[in-house]
Order: sequence, then structure tokens, then C-alpha cells
Amino acid sequence: MTSPDTNRNISLEEMDKQSLLHPYTSITDHLDKGPVVIIKGHAARVTDSRGRDYIDSMGGLWCVNIGHGRQEMVDAITAQAQEIAYYHLFFSMANEPAIRLADKVLQLMPDHMSKVFFCNSGSEANDTQVKIAWYYNNLRGKPEKKKIIARKLGYHGVTAVAASMTGLPQLHKSFNLPLDGFLHVSAPHHYWNAANGETEREFSKRLAKELDSLIEHEDPTTIAAFIAEPVMGAGGVVPPPDGYFSEIQKVLKKHDILFIADEVICGFGRLGTMFGTNLYQLEPDMMTLAKGLTSAYVPMSAAVISEKVWDVLKSGSPETGPFAHGYTYGGHPLAAAAGLKTIEIMERENLVDHAHKVGAYLQRRLRETFSENPLVGEVRGVGLMAGVELVADKDKKIPFEPSVQIGPRVTQLLMEEGVIHRAINNTIAFSPPLVITETDIDEMLDRCQRGVKKMADQLVGEGMWKAA
Ligand SMILES: Cc1ncc(COP(=O)(O)O)c(C=O)c1O
Repeated sequence: MTSPDTNRNISLEEMDKQSLLHPYTSITDHLDKGPVVIIKGHAARVTDSRGRDYIDSMGGLWCVNIGHGRQEMVDAITAQAQEIAYYHLFFSMANEPAIRLADKVLQLMPDHMSKVFFCNSGSEANDTQVKIAWYYNNLRGKPEKKKIIARKLGYHGVTAVAASMTGLPQLHKSFNLPLDGFLHVSAPHHYWNAANGETEREFSKRLAKELDSLIEHEDPTTIAAFIAEPVMGAGGVVPPPDGYFSEIQKVLKKHDILFIADEVICGFGRLGTMFGTNLYQLEPDMMTLAKGLTSAYVPMSAAVISEKVWDVLKSGSPETGPFAHGYTYGGHPLAAAAGLKTIEIMERENLVDHAHKVGAYLQRRLRETFSENPLVGEVRGVGLMAGVELVADKDKKIPFEPSVQIGPRVTQLLMEEGVIHRAINNTIAFSPPLVITETDIDEMLDRCQRGVKKMADQLVGEGMWKAA
């Protein structure tokens, strides 16, 4: 137990319950169970305040790519704080790390990407992309071209605009969202959404047709942008089916619609390539970065725009005056120093190649461990991003009812085995630090297998499930 605070004379756990409103947490459950307080970390492992060790199979929230506990990150952030801890980028002011990081990020990106606008979270960066898309069409004399198309199961954040793009009903229902002008097409989820016998290619063509029909129905002159994650993350780890993005991009080009690639999770090596854009040959007009940009040592995100968008902004500038958008902390020097050091470490340690190799190992071992398990419908993923979907009936492809509470229960069982992970509905997600080793992976999967076995035993005991 954490020692009681001498001033307040209550434990840290009780102080948490008395003072914090936790994101994405059931208030009732939290008041009952209290927090797990993480106090230390090294590489892919963390320790809580009770001294329990865990493998961090989610890298925090898909973000601690270079791993926990890097002293040289602390040193880089400290050195920058000693020089100048804060200066902003408003009104032509600047700071050195922000300039250098923007330059470095552009070197890593496809050549047609042109300018970096720094923000503090993935949600803010996606909001920024939407505002830039609106601004772009205002400047082009197309003020009616404003609607945004996103996808069901897509995740783009929680601010009012980002949550409107997110395609998860639970983010909408309590908040009167989505806002007007935000539309959703079907998720590219072959396992759940393909028709019987439909190949991935056929499925991709059908989804592109659905997008085309929606655009025609709404009128292409009213649609500004389409947003997509290269691999869906928080919607359940859904890689695109074969041919998906090439079909989708044809439709977007035909209708003069901007493509925003939300690289918040996929960027910076997670898929075994620097960006998802490289892996799937995407040609985005805008790219959103966060998480891996600083490996979450300090919050930072970026909305990156292409030459095509920049040209319109630049040409419009004499008439419109200043670009009237910006966050106090956008381009914060401490975050930018963390970003520069993250990229230096990634390059020095070849972490993208490492993620490619160890990612292939994770994918193979997950399939060996779980594909034949009667509780598992599908194992899917790319690189160091994977999902294991638990189903009520494997042969008939019947999902568990939400009332069974598979997600929270399996999370609890895996925590007890020493794996912090994230259950997305009925899918066990994996997104570990890129520095994870094959030995860590073996241990993580042994622990997961024990947890899933316990889950199966509980379900059988309750009469909720029968092994085939
Ligand atoms: C693909 C994607 N976009 C945007 C976001 C939102 O980022 P943030 O939580 O930093 O606002 C997330 C967060 O998980 C994400 O996965």
C-alpha cells in the first residue's frame, strides 16, 4: 500500500477517489475499486504502487514507442528547460526545438508534405485539420464544400469535432454528437462486415462504392474531406482489407475531396514502417501525428499539410490576414525537445526495423497461441498492433452480448496475470512499446493465455459459453 500522506492522512488511492474524474472510466466501478497507480517503468514493463510488475502491452495508450524510463529523454527535456522552458509560435515568434522538429518530421514524411502545425493532443490536431480543410475551401471560393466523412469504428479523439468524426456511438450518445455535417461510412471490418464468401478485394470495392454513393447523394460540392486511420486502433484493431485504400483514394480524387490520414497511432514505426502511409501507399493531403512523435514523454501532436493545401493558404494570405488559429502550448520547447530526442533514439536504434521484425514475431506467435482457441474468432493486426477477438460462437460467428462484459472481465484477469492491456469491446488489443523483445512477447503471451483460459472457465461455470 502507498504510505498515507502525512498532511491529509489518507492513502493515495483514497485521495484519487476523492479528487479525480478519470477519463473513459465508470465512476461507479472506480469508486468501488480505486485506481492502479503506476509509479515506475522501464522499456516494456511498469510497476505499480503495490510493487506489482506488469508487461505494458499497450505502451500506455498506444504511445510510449521508445519504451519507459529513458534517462536521455529526461536529460534532453531538462537541458531544454534550463535554456528556455517556454516560448510560443504566435505572431512569428519561435523557439529552436520546434523549428528543428518540424524540419526533421518533414524529412521523414512523403515529399509532398509541406508544413507542420503543432498542437498538444491527437484530438486538437484533428480539429485543426478540419478547420484547415474548411479554410482551404473558403479560400478556393467553395464555401459550401464543408462536410467531413469518417468511418464507423474510426477513432479520431474526443473534442466536439474529433468526437463527431469518431465512429463510436458511445462517444456520441451523451453529448449530442455528431455535429451537423459529419457523416460516417461502413467500417472496413472484413471479419464482421463482409458478406458470406466475399473476398477482401470485393469487400473493398463495395465499400468504395458505398463512399461514392454517399458523396453523390450528399452532392460532391458539399464534401470537404475524408479521414481515416491506416489501421483502425480504438475501434478494435482493424487493418484495411486488400485494395481498400487504392479504391477509396480513387473516389476521393474523382470528387476533389481532401484525404486526412490519421497517423496518431500508426505513425512513428508502429506498423514496421515509419508511417502507415508508407505501408499502404497512401497519398494524403494532410497527416495527423501525436503519440509516437514524443513517445508521450511530453504531450505533443501535429497537423501536417501538403504542398497542395499550403499553396492555397499561402495564396490567400494577403487577403485573409493572420492564420487565426493556434494553441498556447503548440510547439512547446520541452515537447519539441522530447520529439527530437525520440526521433534520434528511433534512428540510432533502428526501431522501425526492430518493430518490423519483432512485429512479425508477435503476429506469428499470437496466431499460434490463439487462432485455434474456441473462444477466439479472429486474430488480426500488422506490425506491433494486434487484436484478438473473443466470440460467443466461433463457427457461427456470434459475438458476446455486451451484458456479458467480456472486455472489463478479461482486462481484470490479464491484470492479475501481470499484463496491462486494453479490451475494446470483445477484442484484446496489443500495441506494446517498439522496444519490446521476443522474450517479453513470449512472456506476455503466456500470461495472456492463462488469463483467457480463466475467462473461459468462468464463462463455462456461469453457463454463458460452451467450448466446441
Ligand atoms: C487514431 C487516433 N486519432 C486521434 C486520437 C486522439 O488523440 P488524443 O487522445 O491525444 O486526443 C487517438 C487517441 O487514441 C487516436 O488513436
